[in-house]
Amino acid sequence: MQEATVQVGITDYLFWVALPYTVLTIFVLGHIYRYATDPMSWTSKSSELLEKKLLRFGSMPFHYGIILVLLGHFIGLIIPKAVHEAFGLSDHVYHIIAVTGGLFAGFLTLLGLIVLTYRRFAVKRVLANSSAGDIVVLVLLLLVVLAGLTATLSNLGGSFDYRDTIAPWLRGILTLRPDPTLMANVPIIFKLHIFLVMLLLAVWPFTRLVHVLSFPIVFLRRSRVIFRRRCGDMA
Ligand code: HEM
Repeated sequence: MQEATVQVGITDYLFWVALPYTVLTIFVLGHIYRYATDPMSWTSKSSELLEKKLLRFGSMPFHYGIILVLLGHFIGLIIPKAVHEAFGLSDHVYHIIAVTGGLFAGFLTLLGLIVLTYRRFAVKRVLANSSAGDIVVLVLLLLVVLAGLTATLSNLGGSFDYRDTIAPWLRGILTLRPDPTLMANVPIIFKLHIFLVMLLLAVWPFTRLVHVLSFPIVFLRRSRVIFRRRCGDMA
């Protein structure tokens, strides 16, 4: 039996080949440029001194949520479906775990983002110290997370399997074997989510988000914590 061929046009090549590579180039070169020209601006620009309480209520759920979301994305998009199957994970069980875990993590992230956005606009001192970049990052993150959650909610029945389409497309981009046909029949809300992620990645190096890349390095290079017994405890 002959396989049905998927028709792709110039728009598919623009959105799912040219745009991702343009964005990845901006992301890498942008970080290098920023570090080379303005290393002192490489910071998360903490506004903790201006307001603490709302920051804690927003920052904690946002950071825990987004770490879980990205862990879920790694399992679902970077690890191939064949590996899930080799571990005995049926489509049905995978889908239930992905949806429950994804929605929990996604709503935790959204809750944090709502508090952080409210804080940025409602606390005058924070707003006065905000750059255009700070606002753009918050708005884009909100849109990315809202589109992601809508995509998950629109596919509760699991009729669309992104592990056969979006996941191999993403791995193809990262391994320099792009295949836009994989994205051709993806539902529009998933496409919108990924498009918004690309916008976010394009502005990333020019915003406070640069701290995400340096955090693991600082964490690994920080000085050791040395525990010593008090002399009296030696006996
Ligand atoms: C900054 C990066 C990203 C953020 C913050 C983000 C956020 C989210 C959130 C909050 C959800 C809903 C909850 C969940 O299922 O986890 C979601 C779902 C999803 N995202 Fe993303 N995402 C990002 C990048 C990407 C990328 C690069 C892709 C693919 C190329 C992608 C594809 C998906 C898919 C397929 C779903 C549906 C998952 C499901 O229903 O199980 N996301 N995203």
